[in-house]
Amino acid sequence: MAKMSVLLGFFLGIVMMGLARSAKFDDLYQASWALDHLAYEGETLKLKLDNYSGAGFASRNKYLFGKVSMQIKLVEGDSAGTVTAFYMSSDGPDHDEFDFEFLGNTTGEPYLIQTNVYVNGVGNREQRLDLWFDPTKDFHTYSLLWNQRQVVFLVDETPIRVHTNLEHKGIPFPKDQAMGVYSSIWNADDWATQGGRVKTDWSHAPFVASYKGFEIDACECPVSVADADSAKKCSSSSEKRFWWTSQHWPSSTCTRATSLSGFEPITCL
Ligand SMILES: *[C@@H]1O[C@H](CO)[C@@H](O)[C@H](O)[C@H]1NC(C)=O
Ligand SMILES: *[C@@H]1O[C@H](CO)[C@@H](O)[C@H](O)[C@H]1NC(C)=O
Repeated sequence: MAKMSVLLGFFLGIVMMGLARSAKFDDLYQASWALDHLAYEGETLKLKLDNYSGAGFASRNKYLFGKVSMQIKLVEGDSAGTVTAFYMSSDGPDHDEFDFEFLGNTTGEPYLIQTNVYVNGVGNREQRLDLWFDPTKDFHTYSLLWNQRQVVFLVDETPIRVHTNLEHKGIPFPKDQAMGVYSSIWNADDWATQGGRVKTDWSHAPFVASYKGFEIDACECPVSVADADSAKKCSSSSEKRFWWTSQHWPSSTCTRATSLSGFEPITCL
């Protein structure tokens, strides 16, 4: 018996070491929509959209402030009509939300990134941006950095949008509601591509978005703890985590960021 459990422990150890990286998805996330449209290939997770369903996943926990990243390789070839999203959101009608939406296109035409920020249930802050690379050829890292001063959208560590806390001017800022982290792929051919003129061509299905490199460095808010207590803990500067004070950017990043059209000014070192 003892021998067997030692042996079992040994094999479990090997299995866990072998899966260390891909197991991370399961540590942080779970499927939230159409289990059969999610698939693992080695350390890569794939979300599939076909004429039956899209797919999605959600974080197991909620967070208040922090940095959340994932590497995504968007749908190759004809992705017209499809939207892949990576976002953080709280629950309820007065929710806060930070969105990356990747709007597909016909073969050879560029993807667009649309970002949005909802505060207390109010959005209408869309911005659209062309990328400086083809996001379907390789994995790139997309991140959301959130602290009490700002919400920053980053692509390969380059800030592409900064939503600054302007509460001193009476503008509400998201800082009280814990958020989950989500991603999904779905059909949005009524608006996504070239204003909705180009429809999804289902003969090219399944449309596949691939993911890896899941990272969450954030203040966790267990469901068992009251929101107000979580807010107090996560707002305390005693933790002094990097994302707490992060507000300046190295000059290399700044050069690219400030050259992007539609970009709001950021403070450069
Ligand atoms: C979905 O697409 C498949 C393959 O193109 C086709 O056989 C099937 O009839 C379609 N189903 C629906 C509900 O449109
Ligand atoms: C798709 O390509 C067209 C033509 O290049 C471009 O105008 C459009 O902004 C691109 N993106 C989307 C999402 O429509």
